[in-house]
This record gives sequence, structure tokens and C-alpha cells, in this order.
Amino acid sequence: MAASIAKDLWNPLAYECNHAFVWQYGQDLVQLLNPQAHEQILDLGCGTGQLTSQLAATKAEVLGLDRSPEMIAQAKASYPHLSFIVADARQFRVEPSLDAVFSNAALHWILEPDVVISNIHQALKPGGRFVAELGGKGNVQTIIAALNQALIDLSIPTTFRHPWYFPSISDYTTRLERQGFEVTGAWLFDRSTRLEAGEAGLANWLQMFANSQLGQLTPEQQDQVIGLVETQLRPILYQEDAWMADYRRLRVVAVKL
Ligand code: BEZ
Repeated sequence: MAASIAKDLWNPLAYECNHAFVWQYGQDLVQLLNPQAHEQILDLGCGTGQLTSQLAATKAEVLGLDRSPEMIAQAKASYPHLSFIVADARQFRVEPSLDAVFSNAALHWILEPDVVISNIHQALKPGGRFVAELGGKGNVQTIIAALNQALIDLSIPTTFRHPWYFPSISDYTTRLERQGFEVTGAWLFDRSTRLEAGEAGLANWLQMFANSQLGQLTPEQQDQVIGLVETQLRPILYQEDAWMADYRRLRVVAVKL
């Protein structure tokens, strides 16, 4: 997880307990990368390191990078035999010798995609692969619409300008091609995602993922907004004792030319 200010406030424990789906869904992204022994791989936005560890299990040489010192501290504690660094995906520089850059559920936090793509390109050797998943166009749009409606209903003078980059296939693949990648695969697909903690799942999710906006409100306003969002969304997103977030993912596979 890389670049948002809000994420610096993240509690790695809450992240690991309530939002395990973030890396659980990333497991088949590891298969898509198909890491080989001795390959040099960067896990960009590695969070608490679960997928870094899965990449390393193939005997690849993996470096996990994340902007959050808290996340990296947790990753180092969980996987002391692996390498992790605190760095910003917009600024990192490594020797241009990597076989692959892997990224799961991180790049949508960064509103400067071209800078990140340029850094990934720089880090790869020719023929190196970039395999990533991020929120795609339309991701959590039902939740965003409900947040906006709640702010209107409560006459709170702000709109929920979401801090995420959820690109379409054409947006993202065009950026990749412009910077010297050949895109060999791109998929945009719905992945309705069951949130942990039953009734409390949506409130937990909003507090973690929408913190940069909700955090600007008073605690009372936050409770009111969350209550209204829950009321609006219950008929649509609450099913069989769990909240289902309307996730939509963009996956890409690209090769440095
Ligand atoms: C996601 O992983 O799709 C996501 C992350 C933060 C906010 C919204 C969605």
C-alpha cells in the first residue's frame, strides 16, 4: 500500500484482522505473475507483507516496498527473513535489473499514475514483467454515491471527492504503452467483496478506507454519515449477515520493451 496520507494512519492490526481479503484475493495474482526461483521481484505497496512472503516462497528474491512505516514494521516482524523498505512509489529508484514488479491493491492510492509507471519501467530490465491489480473504473461506486447522498442529506457542506485512482482499461493500458510497455493482458471485472465483522463491516471499512474524508468531520458527523450510508445501502449491499462491497478490479500484465 503506497501513497496516501490517510494510509499512514492505518493500524496494521486492524488491517490484518478486518481486511484480510485484500491479500487473500491477491493470491491468484501471484499465480498470474508465476514467479520463478532466483528472479528479482519488487512487491510495490506490499502492506504487511503477506503476498511478499508468497512470492518469496517460490525462491524468488523479493523486496517489499511500502510508504507506511507502520505497515513495514509489521511486515518485518512477521517475516524477519525477508527484505522490506519504506519508500514512496512515486520516488523510489532501484538498479534497472528487476525481472518483475508486482503490485496488489496499492496503485489506486496514487493520483500520479504516470510517475509510478515511469519508476516501474526504470526498475525493470528489458523483457521484465509488470503484473498488477488495482481498483478499476466504477470501483465502489455504490458506496461513493451513498456517501455523497449522506453528506447532502445532513447538509454537510462538502462532497465526497474520493482520493483514489480507479482507471478504465483504455486509460491505464494507454499510459503503459506510452511509456514503453507492451500490454499482454488487461481485465476489468466485478468482485463483490464480503466485508469482515458482520453488521460492523461497512462502518469498519469506511473508517479505514474513507478516512481521509470522514476524518475531516466531527465524530458526531462521522457517526451520522455512517448511519445514513448503512441505511441507504442495507437493501442493496447487506446479504446473509454481511456487507458486500461493490469492488471492481483492473488487472494488467505488461512487458518492458
Ligand atoms: C479497493 O481496494 O478497491 C479500495 C481501496 C480503497 C478504497 C476503495 C476501494
